[in-house]
Amino acid sequence: MLCLSSEQEPPDMQCEHLHPGRPGGSLIEDVRRGLLDSPRSIPCKYLYDEHGSKLFERICETREYYQTRTESGLLNDACTSIIETSQPEQLLELGSGNSSKIHVLLDSCRKLNLDCSYMPLDICEQAVTDACRILQHKYSWLEIRPMVGDYIHSLSSLASAPGRRLYVFLGGTIGNLEGPERQCFFAELLAAMNPGDWLLLGADREKDPTILNAAYNDSAGYTARFNLNVLNVLNRELRADFQVEQFRHQAAYNTRLKHIEIHLVSQQAQRVSLQEMKADVHLHEGEKILTEISRKFTYQGLNELLEQHQLQVAHHFQPDNQYFSLVLARYSP
Ligand SMILES: C[S@@+](CC[C@H](N)C(=O)[O-])C[C@H]1O[C@@H](n2cnc3c(N)ncnc32)[C@H](O)[C@@H]1O
Repeated sequence: MLCLSSEQEPPDMQCEHLHPGRPGGSLIEDVRRGLLDSPRSIPCKYLYDEHGSKLFERICETREYYQTRTESGLLNDACTSIIETSQPEQLLELGSGNSSKIHVLLDSCRKLNLDCSYMPLDICEQAVTDACRILQHKYSWLEIRPMVGDYIHSLSSLASAPGRRLYVFLGGTIGNLEGPERQCFFAELLAAMNPGDWLLLGADREKDPTILNAAYNDSAGYTARFNLNVLNVLNRELRADFQVEQFRHQAAYNTRLKHIEIHLVSQQAQRVSLQEMKADVHLHEGEKILTEISRKFTYQGLNELLEQHQLQVAHHFQPDNQYFSLVLARYSP
């Protein structure tokens, strides 16, 4: 990651806030529907406050978390072909985080003399502004339009802009979306896309459960801290009184459902008060709160998922060990 010295003042980055095109997605609604009901859950987007986003970066650097380095290797090898095929005028990255993977695509645009702007979108405003300041410093010619919002509910508000777009959705993040959320995501995405736009999707693959379980239980404990941090988010945003040390991180691959399930497990019977909502949560010892799922795909399953949504697969890149997929698909309604 590029660091700025104090003499090199980066430009200010103002983020545009996207408004949901569909109902849902506010913390209070999500907590009422998920945490106050049974089985208990909290949507995974709340894991990514400023501190959670920093912890996620640490996870990406761990030995066990093969996803980031595998996907980055694929991107390095395939970037020229991706840009030559898609010829983008805008790169729109969903769940952009620290935007570290976009650099190779921007370098390829430059090499191929393509004038391309960059639109990062993430739920964490601090992550977007930090990433954009670094990008603007490195690529002074680049037009950047930073955005904050929820990619499940807000993408249709980006519809009907001129210029061919390459939507970039990396990090295996698609695996966090299942059922109605995934349907909503694709409906919003297709409402934003014009025919001839492209999607570059990075997705994790089914593999030996030992490797998967290790990736979500790194020995340095970053994933555990990342998971537990969501309780600090609820304490801050909802004036709740979760005692973080009374919970334990648990992540395990469900071989039947083909996904990792990440939970927080209550270590004792306890009552937690959510003052902002004038509500209490009564947890029994061993009770679990689901905080994330991460689906693992097959090569064929990914192709079918995209084709079902009128996204025609042009290239499907994978490494020799088939740990991860990078798929480039064209919107062809
Ligand atoms: C698994 S990380 C991937 C980050 C980065 N794209 C990468 O490949 O390393 C998921 C990213 O999506 C963001 N995110 C999670 N849920 C979101 C949502 N509903 N809307 C927008 N961004 C979201 C997180 O803040 C985080 O930056």
